[in-house]
Amino acid sequence: MGMNVLLLGSGGREHAIAWRVSQSPLLSKLWIAPGNAGTLDLGENVTDLKPTDVESVRRFAEEIRADLVVVAPEDPLAAGVVDALAAAGIPAFGPTQAAAEIESSKSFAKDLMAQAGIATSASRAFEDADAATEYVRSLGGPCVVKADGLATGKGVTVCDDADQAVAAIDAAMREGVFGASGARVVIEERMYGRETSAHAFTDGVTVRHMPFSCDHKPVFDDDQGPNTGGMGVYSPPGWLSDADAEAIRIGVTERAVAQMAAQGRPYRGVLYPGMMLTADGPKVVEFNCRFGDPETEVLLPKLRSDLLPILEACAKGTLASVDVEWDDVATVGVMMASGGYPAKYETGKPIEGVGDVDDDVQVFIAGAQRRDGRLVTAGGRVLCVVARGATMEDARARAYDNVRRISFEGAHYRTDIGAKASLPLEFAR
Ligand SMILES: Nc1ncnc2c1ncn2[C@@H]1O[C@H](COP(=O)(O)OP(=O)(O)O)[C@@H](O)[C@H]1O
Ligand SMILES: [Mg+2]
Repeated sequence: MGMNVLLLGSGGREHAIAWRVSQSPLLSKLWIAPGNAGTLDLGENVTDLKPTDVESVRRFAEEIRADLVVVAPEDPLAAGVVDALAAAGIPAFGPTQAAAEIESSKSFAKDLMAQAGIATSASRAFEDADAATEYVRSLGGPCVVKADGLATGKGVTVCDDADQAVAAIDAAMREGVFGASGARVVIEERMYGRETSAHAFTDGVTVRHMPFSCDHKPVFDDDQGPNTGGMGVYSPPGWLSDADAEAIRIGVTERAVAQMAAQGRPYRGVLYPGMMLTADGPKVVEFNCRFGDPETEVLLPKLRSDLLPILEACAKGTLASVDVEWDDVATVGVMMASGGYPAKYETGKPIEGVGDVDDDVQVFIAGAQRRDGRLVTAGGRVLCVVARGATMEDARARAYDNVRRISFEGAHYRTDIGAKASLPLEFAR
């Protein structure tokens, strides 16, 4: 008897997860809610099921007799979908609502790090706008202002001076730009350095690390222009030393998992610390309580083991008995975006060439629909082209060779994804 699996989410990350789960010999049937054009052929899309509608998710999972529900995005985790499923006796991959606070409350994460002795920037939390304003004035210089709660990646302002910080405090706390998520803000010391994403599977006790990866947020080459959801990603960073990598694995990820357990909030699922390599060593920027997007798109193509038993083991607390092995290859993912993105863009543009990519290259759909048998754009980030290579240069060349076979009106992408993957850090470590 194979497993019935329900996957929640609709982006490139979910396409990548569905792709791997659908290959598992343990699978009976896969449902994706709501899914996208990429998951259509991998299972059954449940387009009218909202991942954050906890009761409907529980009801649907019961109806299909789900053996496992995989929760990919952060909002349903923060909404408590895993708790509701657990109460109904349905195993779910992902942290409980209380454990997901490691992402959904930046002040909770800061307190956790202080208690566990995990390196991060100095910070203070405020619930009063006047007190926050007074504090950034007293700092006088650069700082970072963060809405405490989830803000779809828009709640953070990196400030050069106090005036910018005051404006960010006003927006979050007085104007309510982020709703309830901005009622509390965290003011942080500003750090400088290169960023990398650490990912690990955990069942609350056992931790299995994934390779490191690096996202490119700004929309244009050389990190110019406004930030996006991510324009491309590579793995692994050649510039990350083995010693720093080990310090992150042990001193951040494993320590955080142990601290969560000690606090009575056992953490299960993917833990993804966002790291900055500073002159003083690796420091945590934030914790995420799920797979990164687009990081997932370059990680899963090099997972040698079957993904489904890993997800199941995380949910059931049996990760110690499951193999998690990775191919020692480089992967590069290039995101193709709609004209105008991250500002206003049009949708409904026919996409050509997706069928012309090499057999071992993956095209993960982020925002596209199938309409009358044709693939058309349906989002800002449209698709991510992922190639593997023996070296980063190899993977880069193959990714771009395949990107050039795909076209739609207004398409744009960065041409320098992974170009600095081997560039040594600016300072000695
Ligand atoms: N203390 C900090 N110093 C310098 N840059 C920061 C700091 N905190 C965040 N950033 C920058 O802002 C980005 C977003 O911050 P993060 O805490 O990851 O929030 P989110 O992903 O929830 O928007 C980071 O990737 C990093 O580039
Ligand atoms: Mg982040």
